Amino acid sequence: MPTFSLAVSFLRYFFGAVSAHGLHSPFMYRLMTEAVDCSTSDSQVQAPLALRRQLLGDRSLIEVDDLGGGSRHTPGNTRVVKQLALHSGRQPRTGKLLYRLVRHFQPEIVVELGTSLGIGTLFLKEAAPQARIITIEGSGEVATLARRNISQFGASDVEVVHGAFAEVLTPGFIANLKPSLVVFDGDHREAPTLDYFDRFARHATNDTVFIFDDIHWSPGMEKAWDAIRADERVKVTADLFTFGLVFFRKELSRQHFVLRNRDCF
Ligand SMILES: C[S@@+](CC[C@H](N)C(=O)[O-])C[C@H]1O[C@@H](n2cnc3c(N)ncnc32)[C@H](O)[C@@H]1O
Repeated sequence: MPTFSLAVSFLRYFFGAVSAHGLHSPFMYRLMTEAVDCSTSDSQVQAPLALRRQLLGDRSLIEVDDLGGGSRHTPGNTRVVKQLALHSGRQPRTGKLLYRLVRHFQPEIVVELGTSLGIGTLFLKEAAPQARIITIEGSGEVATLARRNISQFGASDVEVVHGAFAEVLTPGFIANLKPSLVVFDGDHREAPTLDYFDRFARHATNDTVFIFDDIHWSPGMEKAWDAIRADERVKVTADLFTFGLVFFRKELSRQHFVLRNRDCF
């Protein structure tokens, strides 16, 4: 996204965001005070931080298949692992927020769309150690390396599935899994994002939580986020600028929140 459009999106977010004091919904107030507005020490998320440090020193080459929105940084299909970790892997600050969000909801079954090298997956594992975690990656070499990385840091029970989302995410696959929490961090384009949202929304239960990454990344992602907020199945959404959260809880009144995420201020 051009810097100017991103700046406009951020200013809109900045002036619209409310703190915990401005929230009347007990559900949102708890989310803010128990997850968003907290801090996380490095010792709580040692494994993903250690993996990231290790990968940032790795100068070997890896082949990637461009299945999603592409890279803003590097053309072509060959990447240095270090660059992939830097540009495509979860950054510590958003990883810690993701960790707090997932820890707050304590899901039993987590699906992550887009594994890359497995840094984000390890944040999920730290947050919900008892959960069944399935992560999907379309690039073969990347999936193989991610599987090795994740096992190296003690999470060999995480299931790394290699395949394109459009092929892996059949109605049977989703219905069998019944995920309680889904992290959408793969294909950052409007139409595919809405397609994957719809596939999971068809099987969402009252407690299902969706976390969308990079909802303001591009005009297409802005449009996708607007369409998700307008979807009749959705009861409540929360815009944290870096993440968009989606809830289906029937007991909540339909509302769309813009929450002050202190990492952005
Ligand atoms: C931003 S990275 C994921 C980062 C990772 N979740 C983390 O937190 O470290 C996105 C990944 O999704 C994969 N991807 C993109 N589109 C895909 C698709 N349609 N099917 C399968 N994988 C896809 C890419 O290969 C890339 O590795």
